[in-house]
Amino acid sequence: MDHRPKGLAVPAAASMPTTRVQANGLLADTRGRSLRDLRISVTDRCNFRCNYCMPKEIFDKDYAYLPHTALLSFEEITRLARQFIAHGVQKIRLTGGEPLLRKNLEQLIAQLAALRTLDGTPLDITLTTNGSLLARKAAALRAAGLQRVTVSLDGLDDAVFRAMNDVDFPVADVLAGIEAARAVGLGPIKINMVVKRGTNEQEILPMARHFMGSGMVLRFIEYMDVGATNGWRMNEVMPSSEVVRLIQSELPLVPLEASQPGETAQRWGYADAQGRHDPGLGEIGVISSVTQAFCHSCNRARLSTEGQLYLCLFAEKGYDLRSLLRGGASDADLANAIGHIWQGRADNYSESRSQLGPDTGAPVKRVEMSYIGG
Ligand code: GTP
Ligand code: 5AD
Ligand code: SF4
Ligand code: SF4
Repeated sequence: MDHRPKGLAVPAAASMPTTRVQANGLLADTRGRSLRDLRISVTDRCNFRCNYCMPKEIFDKDYAYLPHTALLSFEEITRLARQFIAHGVQKIRLTGGEPLLRKNLEQLIAQLAALRTLDGTPLDITLTTNGSLLARKAAALRAAGLQRVTVSLDGLDDAVFRAMNDVDFPVADVLAGIEAARAVGLGPIKINMVVKRGTNEQEILPMARHFMGSGMVLRFIEYMDVGATNGWRMNEVMPSSEVVRLIQSELPLVPLEASQPGETAQRWGYADAQGRHDPGLGEIGVISSVTQAFCHSCNRARLSTEGQLYLCLFAEKGYDLRSLLRGGASDADLANAIGHIWQGRADNYSESRSQLGPDTGAPVKRVEMSYIGG
């Protein structure tokens, strides 16, 4: 049965007005935001069932995943990526579901690694993974041209970790995957921990201690109301300010400058005895999408597994680039469509969340994160 949110609008065909949008990296949306970061979902499947993302009750054996023919091919993805790059994209993140479940992913990485940004430099190519297949695949990914990985890890305690992934997957195997990635030079490695109050907050300090001084950057993410199936409640959100205070109580931190415009994470460095950042001890990040939204600088576009362009993680509909592609559009037509769609973008869901009225109980139509990727 198809459990995708009912009422999700059939993606509107990307319109192609005759006035051409110049593809020169200067594209801006209605809020003046550039397009720099493209997240490409390569599969809507995952071998984990994290409760906050793919709850078992919904994503069960009857769930209708996309058939193979619906998926963009690697050639289609690369062709689209080229048009996004023409508009200024500098970073590409492969996501899922679990991207390492997509067959021959290394081939896609090799194709993307051959592309160049507008100023002639290689793209920043990275991948978000749950780490379960990383030990097996790290070397091939590196050889194909992947530069770094971000691994999701919600705790170190085996029982907590097994319960959160909800498929009884042992934490030791993910740690082995992280070690394999480090050993082949896939870095800097980032570790993403979604914090759910009442579920894994007791893992915050052990995680901080474990990754301090490791050269990896641990980021704590506020549990978000993304999608329509995770039963999100505000009282399960642990604000980043509390996370920082908790870590500070044992491991002194100092605030660091953002390293890139539009960055999702606020950075904190571990301090030395003089209260200065000690680069050897490294840093953490907090991603406060609920309590301190960062839509004002959001330069991210998302391409779903079947080629729908989403302008926000919380969007209800995407723009159907696949039918343009398969309908014989030229590269210039594709770039033009992307340009027009971005120019019309006004999304700022997280910033406007607090201004939304009380929950009316009406069904939520938002797209699932496992479908467009984090
Ligand atoms: P780096 O370049 O590695 O720093 O990547 P990043 O922080 O841009 O990306 P990542 O995918 O690691 O983001 C971490 C988490 O932040 C995601 O899993 C989401 O939970 C959240 N996040 C990322 N982008 C957005 C966004 O545009 N909006 C909101 N609300 N949350 C986001
Ligand atoms: N809230 C916050 N982050 C989420 N992710 C998935 N669902 C949520 C949610 N509800 C992010 C996590 C995970 C990545 C794949 O997506 O960071 O690591
Ligand atoms: Fe899979 Fe990542 Fe979603 Fe967990 S958060 S179910 S690992 S896609
Ligand atoms: Fe960007 Fe939407 Fe996230 Fe705001 S909520 S930062 S607009 S993806």
